[in-house]
Amino acid sequence: MADQGEPSQSSVHAYRGDGVTVFYDIRRCTHFAECVRGLPAVFDVKQRPWIQPRNAPADRVAEVVRRCPTGALHYELDDGPPEAPDRPTRIRAVPDGPVTLRGQLAIETPDGELRDVRAALCRCGLTENQPFCDQQCKRAGWKSQQADDALDHE
Ligand code: SF4
Ligand code: FES
Repeated sequence: MADQGEPSQSSVHAYRGDGVTVFYDIRRCTHFAECVRGLPAVFDVKQRPWIQPRNAPADRVAEVVRRCPTGALHYELDDGPPEAPDRPTRIRAVPDGPVTLRGQLAIETPDGELRDVRAALCRCGLTENQPFCDQQCKRAGWKSQQADDALDHE
């Protein structure tokens, strides 16, 4: 993995391509589908495995992996630099969903500190993969407006 730190969960799988390895953590994927839209020849849920990095040049694979807003996807180039963090760090509240961050992140998790460059953090409180969003928000029909209203009445 690149020096943003290794996800400690065993839910991370590696997919080898030509000059690039893609790492995927299913527990952090919230199905924004940026990857599928960006490079359908590589990210295709109808094929097995669903990630086939050999179907595109390494730099193109890396470019689309960087679009993943949750940090479920990472890459390592055989002959290239690790992913550079965004500067300044960018933070966005997704309507009815997590807070996404892009930058030089040091995230406290139950397994210790995780260094990363992208992450989607739970703000509904329902996740079973603290502190990351695991889509429980969507399953529960959680609405961020309710949280905003509660703050207004404090
Ligand atoms: S872009 Fe990231 S979060 Fe979205 S579907 Fe692909 S791997 Fe999952
Ligand atoms: S915001 Fe998605 S699980 Fe909490």
